[in-house]
Amino acid sequence: MFSFDDNLPLKIIAWFLQFPFYIFWFILKYFINKDKNESNIVQAPQYPKTIVVTGASQGIGESLVEYYYKNCPSCEVIIMISRSTEKLEKVKNRLNSNNQRKLIIYQCDVTDSEEMKRIYLDIHRTYGQIDILFANAGVSFRQLSLTNTFDKAVRDVFNININGVINSIMPVIELKNVKQIAIVSSQAAYAPFMSPFYGTTKQCVLSLGRDLRRILAKDNIVVNVISPGPVHTPMLDGVIATTTKHGVSAEKAAEIIYDGLRRNQAEIVFPAVTGVFQYILSFLPLCIAQPIAMYQFRLK
Ligand SMILES: NC(=O)c1ccc[n+]([C@@H]2O[C@H](COP(=O)([O-])OP(=O)(O)OC[C@H]3O[C@@H](n4cnc5c(N)ncnc54)[C@H](OP(=O)(O)O)[C@@H]3O)[C@@H](O)[C@H]2O)c1
Repeated sequence: MFSFDDNLPLKIIAWFLQFPFYIFWFILKYFINKDKNESNIVQAPQYPKTIVVTGASQGIGESLVEYYYKNCPSCEVIIMISRSTEKLEKVKNRLNSNNQRKLIIYQCDVTDSEEMKRIYLDIHRTYGQIDILFANAGVSFRQLSLTNTFDKAVRDVFNININGVINSIMPVIELKNVKQIAIVSSQAAYAPFMSPFYGTTKQCVLSLGRDLRRILAKDNIVVNVISPGPVHTPMLDGVIATTTKHGVSAEKAAEIIYDGLRRNQAEIVFPAVTGVFQYILSFLPLCIAQPIAMYQFRLK
């Protein structure tokens, strides 16, 4: 069981060196640096008027649309983007009882950078500034591999989950047409070996979000990362029950996200129980973390 191929000695040394440093750093940050951090000073919009949600046709995206539609009276325009007009129309028809709230549909694949730019220009001209942009569209490698070759599934999961996020946020940053950007990552980012390829893509957008939060603070743009654990959406259809038993509903997820964004939480992590578990796994050497994960989630 103990092999050195994952640099076990190095990790043990690094862990012992890191641990006291982390405690010291948290204390220092809390007492001294708390209010000086630029990204914490920038105000998140409290009364958003216009929001954009990619991947709005089902799951977490659909629940975000519904939550803002029902619980955010300041919200005048909610723009929904996904590949399926039919599914977006269904969401719109289900919600659109009040005509004052505008539910706008744009059909687009987030991997199409030119089309995404064109859509944002149109939004800019028609609706003005975007208060909150949710870069939410994403797919799991497991879903893709059910219907595609290995090669296509790997390429698509990287293309949609990473390039799709970049295409969803860069045009509005260029146009300086956004106040808050919420990037949907996943707790899979902490222990990517538990969900190969997917976890790696989510680790990438987690780092992207952290960098952008720091860099864009000077332009008064707030960036937050959302790291859900299991959320009961179509993405989890067919996933074994042991993996999802601590999951939350998409409605609950939307409520937690809404609250976290108002408070400008740098990273919104939920449910706590799976978050803590995955976070601890990320600090363990692979030869210890992997058997624990396999036992807990009955991975093969
Ligand atoms: N559910 C979970 O347990 C969980 C946990 C952690 C993180 N997440 C993340 O949360 C986000 C939403 O997941 P979900 O559970 O709501 O998944 P879902 O139910 O499968 O919904 C995914 C949404 O993304 C859209 N989408 C997928 N590929 C797209 C593309 N190329 N272009 C445009 N839209 C695209 C889909 O719409 P169309 O098919 O109409 O295009 C759909 O609206 C994802 O980023 C996911 O990785 C989910």
